[in-house]
Amino acid sequence: LGLSACEGPGETDLTPKGRQFPKDFVWGVATAAFQTEGSQTADGRGPSIWDVFERVPGHVKNGDTAADATDSYRRYQDDVDLIAGASLSAYRFSMSWSRILPTGAGAVNAAGLDHYSRLVDALLAKGITPYATLFHWDLPQGLQDKGGWANRDTAQRLADYARAVVERLGDRLKNYIILNEAAVHTVFGHVLGDHAPGLKDAALLGPVTHHMNLGQGLAIQALRAARSDLSVGTTMALQPCRPAGGPLAFWNRLASDGLDEIWNLAWLDPLFKGTYPKAMEEPLKGVVRDGDLKTTRQPVDFLGVNYYAPAYVRLDLSAPSKIAAAAAPNSAEQDAFGRHIDPSGLFEVLDRVRREYGAPKMLVTENGCSDPFSSGPAILDDTFRIKYLRRHLEAVLAAREAGCDVRGYFEWTLIDNFEWDLGYTSKFGITTMEAASGRRIPKASYGWFKALAQTGTLPS
Ligand code: NOJ
Repeated sequence: LGLSACEGPGETDLTPKGRQFPKDFVWGVATAAFQTEGSQTADGRGPSIWDVFERVPGHVKNGDTAADATDSYRRYQDDVDLIAGASLSAYRFSMSWSRILPTGAGAVNAAGLDHYSRLVDALLAKGITPYATLFHWDLPQGLQDKGGWANRDTAQRLADYARAVVERLGDRLKNYIILNEAAVHTVFGHVLGDHAPGLKDAALLGPVTHHMNLGQGLAIQALRAARSDLSVGTTMALQPCRPAGGPLAFWNRLASDGLDEIWNLAWLDPLFKGTYPKAMEEPLKGVVRDGDLKTTRQPVDFLGVNYYAPAYVRLDLSAPSKIAAAAAPNSAEQDAFGRHIDPSGLFEVLDRVRREYGAPKMLVTENGCSDPFSSGPAILDDTFRIKYLRRHLEAVLAAREAGCDVRGYFEWTLIDNFEWDLGYTSKFGITTMEAASGRRIPKASYGWFKALAQTGTLPS
């Protein structure tokens, strides 16, 4: 059976009428603690599930580890200078849970909080607004030893962690993102095993999904109880699911709709509506308790949307229970990560949230690509990235014109860093690091993004 290609981009005209973003539009870059910090045992940091996972041979390409990463724990001032140098108004970084609570529970490690306090102060000193993600996949190993997200108790531990952060930093740190791409962490970490904690157990889908949603609700409540002047949101990996056509179109659509429910709606619905989609009914049997869906449903000040590519889906007839990747439309160009480039997908997810979830404020908290030139001088001349960013920002403008309340855009990422199971082979940065010296070197896209942040005008 040959593969039938999927439907291409939708009919939507993505050419925006205007090229101008509003004056107060938030321009930023995003990173995550595990991917950049290094210094894995400094100042009392406890091990995270990624420390354990990355050391098992075969888990990460080339045996790479994040032991040094971009050395950002020590060189945070260099990072802040880079962000300021690009005239950006915001920085989205994540905190390492196991720096703050080394085993995930018990006494707070003040030295861990000191680091983020210094980072926040350094950002504020340059007029950059900090956006802190609390959980970007690096769960303390101590919590994993007790079952991790499969254990309901982890939800409470996330709320404790949020409380510890806001008590110490809430006077200066006002913007919080509770979870990063919980769907990716659930499916890749617990069902497929490609990410930490490296489990391959479909039975975990329901419990892990629900306990993360529950923990998110509890953490939002904890932050709001501590202070009334915060802006609290969460970040989801939203992907339009596009079924393959052909003689199996009907079945492909069922598979695609099922994936949509697990991947997108299992996170959007509990937060905005206090419900779960149908595909989660079986996985969640015996997991959801009375009152839980009141806790998961919390008002948020913004939704963070991460967008990279659509998912192309077909039913795999050789293993009928399986959803499989389908061929992308012939026209779709790929980045070096293998993601199909399709800015219409970004419009689609933003517009869906507007239509179906009460038009919340949104921030694009990640968007970017892995450049095909991963070494040599060509890495600095990243016209591939500039084109990618320009086309996706056109989609953001078009979405705003269609009524989506998108307030900001964070490019992924500030600097080439540890790309999880792909190690250092994937390059998403607008700067790169000279390995020997640690020196940061801007790429062409850095200058391009700077001009955009200064003028707010998207070049054609
Ligand atoms: C999403 C994740 O949040 C981030 O950690 C990752 O590096 C980027 N996607 C690029 O794949």
